[in-house]
Amino acid sequence: MNPKIIHDPEAMQHWSLTERAAGRILGLVPTMGYLHRGHLSLMETLRPQVDRLVVSIFVNPIQFGAGEDLDRYPRDWDGDLAACRNAGVDVIFAPEPAAVYPAEFQTAVSVARLTAGLCGALRPGHFDGVTTVVAKLFNLTLPHRACFGEKDYQQLAVIRRMVADLAFPVEIVAAPIVREDDGLALSSRNVYLSAADRHAALGLSRGLFAARKRYAAGERRAVELAGTAHRTIVDHAGDACALEYLVVCDARSLEEIVTVDRETVIALAAKVGRTRLIDNIILAANPEATGKNP
Ligand code: PAF
Repeated sequence: MNPKIIHDPEAMQHWSLTERAAGRILGLVPTMGYLHRGHLSLMETLRPQVDRLVVSIFVNPIQFGAGEDLDRYPRDWDGDLAACRNAGVDVIFAPEPAAVYPAEFQTAVSVARLTAGLCGALRPGHFDGVTTVVAKLFNLTLPHRACFGEKDYQQLAVIRRMVADLAFPVEIVAAPIVREDDGLALSSRNVYLSAADRHAALGLSRGLFAARKRYAAGERRAVELAGTAHRTIVDHAGDACALEYLVVCDARSLEEIVTVDRETVIALAAKVGRTRLIDNIILAANPEATGKNP
């Protein structure tokens, strides 16, 4: 069945209030469209947990910095509609920017320490844009549960913090990274990659996998794990992957650690050609206990 399409924020909120009043459990997958298998896995994760599944498609202007790719961000309405239909989505919420941010809009939601490092340090204002829009999307779609991908690991951590700090009655569900068979993490931005860029970009996941292998073999020094990842990336891609950061962090605080003695994330960002890519791998405190990332 075709999903119902709602553009108007008030109509969206009214629909959600009516469904909630009827006792139905609502789920939200927030997206910026150009849906790929990574988004589909978020929908598949949430679909069995809710009575009504809403997908928002909104390229959020305030989370893009000057000189970033807002103007060329890929869009494919027909493809997105077909993907949502196949995934059993009940409602697509696709508001216009002017309806989300009317001229008098002047509020921001900001999470402090968690946004200081990693992508937050390199993209000033980005996470304020994310938390502001996600807070508004929560208020318009009123979900009981919302699903976010571990690919945007810092985003997930920041949204969990916002939800806890501001007591949003929303359960955040995380879904693991979806990768191509050769390891490349799925991203809407992969469409920008030339064949040569794409080959170079493979170095990123290979670097992370090499670090994980050393971790599984008993290495616990963060500097050694980061070094292994770094060398693997350079061996594979030379200078075609320009790393912006490659850090070994506490999976909750996102603070850099010296020894991997707790749940840890190795996270990186790199420019490949003109395209900025991010990737990460989670190391469980007990390596036998994980299997989340291939
Ligand atoms: O991950 C994304 O696609 C966006 O950051 C989100 C969560 C939809 C907010 O615009």
